[in-house]
Amino acid sequence: MRQAGRSLPEYRALRERNTFWEVAHTPELCAQVTLQPVRRHGVDAAVMFADIMTPVLAMGVDVELVEGVGPVVAQPLRTLADVEALIVPEADAFAPLLEAIRIVRTELGEHQAVVGFCGGPFTVAAYLVEGRPSREFAVVKELMYREPAVWRALLDKLSDCFARYVAAQAGAGADVVQLFDSWAGVLSPHDYEERVAPWSARVLAAVDVPTIHFGTGTATLLPAMARAGGDVIGLDWRIPLDDGWKLAGEDRGVQGNLDPAVLLGPWELVETAARDVLARAGGRPGHIFNLGHGVLPRTDASVVTRLAELVQDATVEARV
Ligand code: CP3
Repeated sequence: MRQAGRSLPEYRALRERNTFWEVAHTPELCAQVTLQPVRRHGVDAAVMFADIMTPVLAMGVDVELVEGVGPVVAQPLRTLADVEALIVPEADAFAPLLEAIRIVRTELGEHQAVVGFCGGPFTVAAYLVEGRPSREFAVVKELMYREPAVWRALLDKLSDCFARYVAAQAGAGADVVQLFDSWAGVLSPHDYEERVAPWSARVLAAVDVPTIHFGTGTATLLPAMARAGGDVIGLDWRIPLDDGWKLAGEDRGVQGNLDPAVLLGPWELVETAARDVLARAGGRPGHIFNLGHGVLPRTDASVVTRLAELVQDATVEARV
């Protein structure tokens, strides 16, 4: 999950020759990069190579992904006129990604899943309004509180576009769709429920394949996130997996939730922490083992491979 490729030499080599958007918009390159971590680590699913800002380019916004920073928007959106100027594109605007999904689906085995995704309307709106990554989210919250009509118009536009985007991905062969509302955890439960959840729900309802609903810092939001939708709720490492599962609801699956920074520690620590996550899942069906957020770029790729082996061995044992 999340910019995972940056820890792989084969990804870095390809990125030296092509820009991010060149890779994302060339189906063969996009498919190749998507498959790199699957081939190397033998994991059970491929997360399509794109960014949460990919569909926003098609809406007419100029976004750059700046290394070490994140998405930077040339002209941040602030007014109703800015929002009204956004295009809600037809699905053919996403043709290169859809073609890459078809290639990846053909390349993978029948027991490996293709994960399509999009950003949560809140997280993407935060980048569009702030113009760049933020700690306080003060600019986007100010707009949300002072200009509720502009906020609703922005989330309407984003959720219309994302609903079309994820439905097209499912149509092209994505087995699962994940909603990355990475920064939703900066909101109070009340604001999340009133000002964000209805639009996330609209995107999640747009597909008939299983969905994963993910955010970080969401321990207090999990019940509201689950109400908004998601067959599986993504958990970060700040909450023990069994506690998070109770809050998400036993009727849902959960994904998570090893701290990605643990992978920078000695192997004994990685093993203990991974076995703790598995023990908390207790072999119950509906647990997708994952990190609680993305692989950090300085992570040694061989540790990820070893972790994937450990989890596969342990869970095959549990099934037998
Ligand atoms: O795991 C994967 O590589 C799958 C593809 C993927 C990317 N971005 C590619 C990418 C996914 C799932 C994302 C989602 C994404 N992008 C999120 C949601 C998940 C999360 O991490 O919370 C967010 C918040 C973003 C925004 C974003 N894009 C950030 C914060 C960065 C990193 C900037 C940096 O260098 O620190 C990006 C750039 C980005 N997106 C890269 C990749 C492979 C690395 C930059 C590059 O190759 O030039």
